[in-house]
Amino acid sequence: MAATKKKLMRAMAGEVQAVPPVWLMRQAGRYLPEYKATRARAGDFLTLCYTPELAAEVTLQPIRRYGFDGAILFADILLVPQALGADLWFVAGEGPRLSTITSQGDFDALRGVEDIHETLSPVYETLGLVKPELPSDVTLIGFAGAPWTVATYMIAGRGTKDQGPAHALKHENPAIFDALIDRITAATVEYLSAQIDAGAEVVKLFDSWAGSLKGADFHRYALEPAKRIISELKARHPGTPVIAFPREAGENYVGFARATGADCVALDNSVSAEWAAARVQVDGCVQGNLDPRHMVTGGQAMIDETRRIMRAFSDGPHIFNLGHGITPDADPDNVSRMLEAIRG
Ligand code: CP3
Repeated sequence: MAATKKKLMRAMAGEVQAVPPVWLMRQAGRYLPEYKATRARAGDFLTLCYTPELAAEVTLQPIRRYGFDGAILFADILLVPQALGADLWFVAGEGPRLSTITSQGDFDALRGVEDIHETLSPVYETLGLVKPELPSDVTLIGFAGAPWTVATYMIAGRGTKDQGPAHALKHENPAIFDALIDRITAATVEYLSAQIDAGAEVVKLFDSWAGSLKGADFHRYALEPAKRIISELKARHPGTPVIAFPREAGENYVGFARATGADCVALDNSVSAEWAAARVQVDGCVQGNLDPRHMVTGGQAMIDETRRIMRAFSDGPHIFNLGHGITPDADPDNVSRMLEAIRG
């Protein structure tokens, strides 16, 4: 098979590139006027996620505007809980709300993994619409939430600062907690596998709250589920790379790729690029890790920091990205200036 020309795929295969591929977490989002226009047409966020023509349109918007090397599917990690039978809605200005899982009865009312495609099939359709529209050098990225992060929302029914309700259930009712993690893990394998069948060339696992798992809990609920998902995906789709993002894992970033089989580890901006180059990039491709605040504040500090990160990771495979999602108050022109600093 001929080697791919796509920069993002080459980085994940271990190639060191003078100009790294670049894309941004949440690159389709409210900082873009064209996103806000399509979002208004959809009416609400979930309608946008489940209307393939509109979801494909917002997936493509940042590619047209900036020419990123990766296009990330427009969807949300909370579609999986909904596909498993949770109620899901978004409260304007606040965020997601879900029915909660706190008892055996709540767990027993969930749907089986085999039922998820009924809800999620529009997402696969979105990928099918995006794929033929992408420039030939742009990589299509699918994604899902990692089991722990998804469980934190399913247990609390909303986003929480310290993931307290999920930690409490883990402690007080480990049987239900473990069963929930297993159900999400199995659903995530099915979901990502279907995304790959529909055209995703790489998939990313977002474990946004991995940082609140410490010691043995990190191993059991962040590392082990990622390892299981990746090994099952690799068995079905041997050539499809996986990016893992155990956000705020700190020291637990070290060895994570080796232990889970991930082809790339995404780094948040709480670790320095110099530290990560020495301790994480030694095992392979890394992604990251500019502080998203720079997309708001811009200026010479943003340029300097962009160049510093590129330099720190220049001896190994690297995908340039932010350390977390770009925020609604970001200035779209700062993204252009950052790209100019990367690509010269
Ligand atoms: O990156 C992309 O551009 C692709 C689309 C994407 C969205 N959410 C769209 C979205 C991706 C990859 C996600 C992942 C996601 N969703 C995560 C993991 C990554 C992270 O940020 O840590 C999490 C935790 C969620 C759950 C979620 N979705 C929350 C907490 C919220 C509300 C907060 C907010 O930013 O409003 C969402 C809503 C959401 N998901 C929006 C977008 C563009 C904003 C909704 C809107 O347009 O009204």
